[in-house]
Amino acid sequence: MEALQDQTRAHFQHEEQSFHLLEEKEAMLHRLHHKHLLETIQGLYQFIPPNEPIPVHCTMDRLQEIAEWYQSHVLHGDSKLLIRR
Ligand SMILES: [Fe+2]
Repeated sequence: MEALQDQTRAHFQHEEQSFHLLEEKEAMLHRLHHKHLLETIQGLYQFIPPNEPIPVHCTMDRLQEIAEWYQSHVLHGDSKLLIRR
């Protein structure tokens, strides 16, 4: 799970280098969306004991939430960055 969090954080840091293309309010909102997802991923750790296999029954709803977040965020947030490049 650390890999998901680390890779997501690295991706967001890379993406945020392009935030100068956005209006200030858009950039702030986009950063908040990133922060929310990182907090959601962090929340998964409360269900996963250290060095234990991921208990699927405890995490499926959260993983579904993350998958839906990614889809919505890419379509409605990240796409604005691509259009302005
Ligand atoms: Fe983003």
